[in-house]
Amino acid sequence: MGSMPESSSDMKVLVVGAGFGGLTAAIECRKRGMSVTLFESSKERRQLGDIISFGSNSGRIFRSWPGVEDELDPVCHHSDGLTFRAFDDDFLCRQIWDAEADWGKRFNGHRGEIHDIVWRHALSIGVEIRLGSKVQEYFETDTEAGVVVNGERISADAVLAADGVRSLARTIVLGFEDKPKSSGYAVYRSWMGTEKLKENPLTAWLADPTIDHHVGWLGPDVHFLVATLQKGTACSWVLTHKDEADVEESWSAPGYVEDAVKTVDGWAPIVHAIIRATPPESLVDWKLVFRDPLPTWVSPKRRIALMGDAAHPFLPTSIQGASQSMEDGVTAAICLELGGKNNVQEGLRAYEKIRYPRVLATQRMGVTNRDNWHKADFNEVKKNPEMVKLPRQDWVLNFDCSKHAYDVYNETVESLRKDPSWKPNPVLESEEYAYAK
Ligand SMILES: Cc1cc2nc3c(=O)[nH]c(=O)nc-3n(C[C@H](O)[C@H](O)[C@H](O)COP(=O)(O)OP(=O)(O)OC[C@H]3O[C@@H](n4cnc5c(N)ncnc54)[C@H](O)[C@@H]3O)c2cc1C
Ligand SMILES: *[C@@H]1O[C@H](CO)[C@@H](O)[C@H](O)[C@H]1NC(C)=O
Repeated sequence: MGSMPESSSDMKVLVVGAGFGGLTAAIECRKRGMSVTLFESSKERRQLGDIISFGSNSGRIFRSWPGVEDELDPVCHHSDGLTFRAFDDDFLCRQIWDAEADWGKRFNGHRGEIHDIVWRHALSIGVEIRLGSKVQEYFETDTEAGVVVNGERISADAVLAADGVRSLARTIVLGFEDKPKSSGYAVYRSWMGTEKLKENPLTAWLADPTIDHHVGWLGPDVHFLVATLQKGTACSWVLTHKDEADVEESWSAPGYVEDAVKTVDGWAPIVHAIIRATPPESLVDWKLVFRDPLPTWVSPKRRIALMGDAAHPFLPTSIQGASQSMEDGVTAAICLELGGKNNVQEGLRAYEKIRYPRVLATQRMGVTNRDNWHKADFNEVKKNPEMVKLPRQDWVLNFDCSKHAYDVYNETVESLRKDPSWKPNPVLESEEYAYAK
């Protein structure tokens, strides 16, 4: 950590939303001495969701929080690679992660379990979390910003809005309501025990107490990923399929086993067996929405900043949504620290300028990875199975967002002073990812 300007400790920050973006922002601001209040609309802490993936770029953030890695290890998935099979169960290839061993540690596991660990860490370092606090309104002046919650008006030096895909803050920052679009895909997802899998000779090998399995079955415009963890007792699967129906995005929409098996009609019996082993209550059908990159993440008076899914929803095939929300949180905290109480506006603009191009490039990966699997010609895939491997870019995963923010803060602020009308460019300069160069 850089030297702490004195003004950091008398800074007050409000964070909205206790997802991974908001919790990270709150922890990182708090650890720099700021006073932090986090508002979460949920009335209670519940372990929601299913599988979530954190790459080594956010893994290093977890590891920087004392005690967190030790708590994460037993609940997370541990395997050295991912096996790809075709829809007919033909072996395609196995992608081993050894090439990236030096980039750090990944953490994949149950969203609710990981969330709980991070939540408790936030409380332990003095983040004040207010549950049942749905922010109804945001406001800002030249000297402060704040929120209205349960009728109470609360102000601070800055507001970090990590209020998720259905962000209310986004409307205030943008000055208009931007509507989500359908991505044309939906995901059936499940987290379940492995009792049923054990009973079936086709699937019993998955419930192995000695090793975690990670297998992807790929077919035309559908992919099915299965991971086992926690000594063979838990299994999570996701089935991404075409869906033009609607754009409601919800974590709780029920899915039906009968509908899920229809999307893999003609696929190998093992795929059907895994889906049929799913208890009905643990299946959801989640529509994937998409949003165009926003013109800005920072409010007109520059005291409210969007982060995480509120600023930039990701497709799961980028495998970076949660990681990028955490990088946002760290970067915003560092920019507030370095800017200090008297330069909050400049700090938040620097946050936007540092983060925007990287997020845009990683977001794009979700589309290219998905299309690489879904649009593939399976005659070609069988001749050249290596083509289904996930691109694992050094610039995404071998990245220390904290070091980066400290390194570039001064030059970023200088460039903004020279060019006060700077605006983010929501168009990638090239498919080669301008950022990566
Ligand atoms: C319940 C839930 C389950 C999820 N399950 C998975 C999963 O299984 N796998 C996966 O890959 N991703 C899952 N996600 C999404 C994933 O967590 C995010 O894509 C990613 O971590 C980025 O997080 P975020 O902090 O930007 O947003 P989110 O994780 O969406 O968090 C936003 C938070 O803001 C709160 N909020 C919204 N509006 C207000 C308001 N007005 N006032 C106060 N609080 C507000 C929400 O209740 C929520 O807790 C889930 C998200 C949620 C909310
Ligand atoms: C950034 O600028 C400040 C003040 O001008 C200076 O004290 C600090 O050393 C600079 N940091 C870096 C990393 O150049």
